[in-house]
Amino acid sequence: MGEKSFVFIGFMGAGKTTIGKLVAKKLGSNFVDIDEEIEKQYQMPITQIFNKIGEKAFRDREKSLITSLAEHKQQILSVGGGAFLQDEVRNVCLSSCIVIYLNLSWESWKQRLSLLIESRPLLQGKSLDEMEELFNKRQEIYNSNHHYKIETDNLDIEEIADSIVEML
Ligand code: S3P
Repeated sequence: MGEKSFVFIGFMGAGKTTIGKLVAKKLGSNFVDIDEEIEKQYQMPITQIFNKIGEKAFRDREKSLITSLAEHKQQILSVGGGAFLQDEVRNVCLSSCIVIYLNLSWESWKQRLSLLIESRPLLQGKSLDEMEELFNKRQEIYNSNHHYKIETDNLDIEEIADSIVEML
């Protein structure tokens, strides 16, 4: 592993936290999950933060945490699926870190939906069509803002983590 930190991006439920943690373990690096940090700071789950404090405050906190951590060396960061909507977050990550996009197909993603909905405020109250629209819109952002892209369909997390470690 070089000096730079690694940032995992991708849609909600793409496996950023699970795979990021495993890669960090294999490399012996420090792992930070930005959503978990924000939950610790506010001492409440993300859904409650969105409901009580609002998405704007969440985004501001997300931006300040990521921009301060991105310049640290040799860490693995997992950032929420909406983090790259913010120009400053994208720019700092792309210039200071190696950005790894974990992609999965809409079909595979749909099978995970029931595990995600309770903890993801942006999915709550949405129809499947609306979710697919969000999925496609987000894919455009991830597709044009990464250094490496990994297709995760049909692979288990060990295989994915190993392929990332080999690639680095
Ligand atoms: C969000 C993704 C979530 C979390 C929040 C908003 C988004 O993270 O940050 O619910 O805008 O896509 P995960 O990608 O880890 O689910």
